Amino acid sequence: MSRKVTKAIFPVAGLGTRFLPATKSVPKEIMTLVDRPLVQYAIDEARAAGITEFIFVTSRGKSALEDYFDHNLVLEQELKAKGKDDLLEVLENTNMESGAIAYIRQHKALGLGHAVWCARRLIGDEPFAVMLPDDVIAADKPCLQQMVEAYEETGGNMVAAMEVAPERTSSYGILDAADSSGKVIRARGMVEKPKADEAPSNMAVIGRYILGPSVLYNLNQMKKGSGGEIQLTDAIAEDIGNGVPVFGYRFDGQRFDCGSKAGFLQATVAFALARNDLRDDLSAYLNDIVATGRAAQ
Ligand code: G1P
Repeated sequence: MSRKVTKAIFPVAGLGTRFLPATKSVPKEIMTLVDRPLVQYAIDEARAAGITEFIFVTSRGKSALEDYFDHNLVLEQELKAKGKDDLLEVLENTNMESGAIAYIRQHKALGLGHAVWCARRLIGDEPFAVMLPDDVIAADKPCLQQMVEAYEETGGNMVAAMEVAPERTSSYGILDAADSSGKVIRARGMVEKPKADEAPSNMAVIGRYILGPSVLYNLNQMKKGSGGEIQLTDAIAEDIGNGVPVFGYRFDGQRFDCGSKAGFLQATVAFALARNDLRDDLSAYLNDIVATGRAAQ
């Protein structure tokens, strides 16, 4: 099987209840980190890694997400007429090639594994990436690109990996690492959200995966796992038992959990401080509130 990865699945069917009331009418993936929707960060990372086909697994209430990927010709013409070339470029960089995006509905919230399985007919017999837009990763070389390069050497299945505090294992897929010293970690097993005292390690799976079609085959069995849901972690772990290797990839970069409010705020500050047009004002403000302990009333 070729190791070229050109397709990525973006599971975006979740209700985003942690961000209510905002998510009452705005899909979580459209919420803005500085001035770009969360999903744009994932798309840019995927493009940098050579992805050309983008498969969104959506649900009811996500039409704003589909609209976001349409070209906005009226706005483009307006900016062109006014000579606002810098804004025009920002807008054009978000345009997707016609036919490059597909939307599949997940009709029931049966878990991440089920969401990925919903895209099976668009994948066929080739390796594919899965990207969870909630996990935003700031890195010099985009995380998925790092993984694609490593995957060209290893094949098998690969998941992004990072050490977490031992008491946080119950929020993640956790690797049973055969050897956790290098960048590429061979996994002996994988467990979804184990309690701290049952976790095989503190090496957590972060939302970037490069998987072979055998994982989709494993998902066909629709086995329920942690939380009564069909888990992607379990389908990947099953491959290990079948002799298909699974590697954790310890990426270079900083990961933000934008599925949580605290993580979203941290990412907002970090990405804003990385911007030339915002850094000075924001850092002056942050220094001031830290020094004086002043907060919004
Ligand atoms: C999902 C996966 C989990 C992984 C995590 C990374 O969990 O099921 O294995 O560690 O993403 O963010 P979720 O955060 O959707 O509950």
